[in-house]
Amino acid sequence: MEGPGDRAFRLLNEYSSGFMVSQVLFAACELGVFDLLAQAPEPLDTAELATRLGTSLHGTELLLDVCASLELLTVETKRNRAVYQNTDLSTTFLVRTSPTCQLHMLLYLSRTTYLCWGHLAAAVREGKNQYKRAFGVPSEQLFTAIYRSEAERLLFMRGLAEIWSVHGVGVMTAFDLSAFSVICDLGGASGALARVCASLYPDSSVLVLEVPEVVRAARSLFLSTVEAPVSFREGDFFKDPLPEADLYILARVLHDWTDEKCSELLAKIHHTCKPGGGILVVESVLEEDRRGPLTTQLYSLNMLVQTEGRERTPAEYRSLICSAGFQDFQLKKTGKIYDVILARK
Ligand SMILES: C[S@@+](CC[C@H](N)C(=O)[O-])C[C@H]1O[C@@H](n2cnc3c(N)ncnc32)[C@H](O)[C@@H]1O
Repeated sequence: MEGPGDRAFRLLNEYSSGFMVSQVLFAACELGVFDLLAQAPEPLDTAELATRLGTSLHGTELLLDVCASLELLTVETKRNRAVYQNTDLSTTFLVRTSPTCQLHMLLYLSRTTYLCWGHLAAAVREGKNQYKRAFGVPSEQLFTAIYRSEAERLLFMRGLAEIWSVHGVGVMTAFDLSAFSVICDLGGASGALARVCASLYPDSSVLVLEVPEVVRAARSLFLSTVEAPVSFREGDFFKDPLPEADLYILARVLHDWTDEKCSELLAKIHHTCKPGGGILVVESVLEEDRRGPLTTQLYSLNMLVQTEGRERTPAEYRSLICSAGFQDFQLKKTGKIYDVILARK
């Protein structure tokens, strides 16, 4: 039986090797293991996988066996050789052609987020993001640092969109939004959540306000292939006038910014919002006492290493939103990663 000392050491070991687990997942995605297995008509052995991936036999064998232990692959022995195939998890979330694929967010975590986390101690010491240390770029203009190249921007946008294929409907139905006829998603990236909104509320018109380079990318990347009932407007939500609407969505936007910048943005929205209109804030909300959820606590550290912001408690959101003039603050905890707040002008 496991004693208290055993448990402590097991936990210590699990925590210290946690990054190795992430790296196995990232490497298998980078190498295209799951896509290759999805295309193969039958399970493949190590030699076949290594040949088709252009990888070493030795390294491939080690990686595949860990993937099997992590339930990312299944393994069976047939005629004295191990053969691998995708599990339900990898078929659903890691294969490029799956409608709920999360591959681009994993690649973004692997290529960008992970490198910022390598400087977590420095981030805690300094209280600021780590783009300068991780990539040598100045971090004063947050989204200039985040969008360091066209490829980086596209990967981030694709990654941001992916979560809404899983949680978009839950978030957009947490409250009945059918009474809002014009809905504006501020900082709505590629329009993935806006499209979920438009499909659920077909009588509303849905608009995304984004910075020009994101709108251009969204048009070429996403709208060429998808008939989307959303429109896009180029603009800076801090500097430019906001489009008129009766509902403003802020999904994963407030967590990027300091309290001061959030207050500035919320006051601006309140000023433009039609009377009776409102705001819908979609964020991962901390417990009131900040003791959880662990995922949200980790996201808050992620905001430290990558942005100017943090995840917040219900009281912190209430204070920011009501100080800007909104009333009838309602929070719906979804039980999933993202929670939803509705408040009215
Ligand atoms: C963390 S992302 C969230 C994207 C999207 N709302 C979602 O949840 O998938 C923040 C978004 O805000 C946009 N953004 C940042 N600063 C902005 C500004 N000043 N004006 C308009 N959009 C901005 C970024 O381009 C980015 O797409």
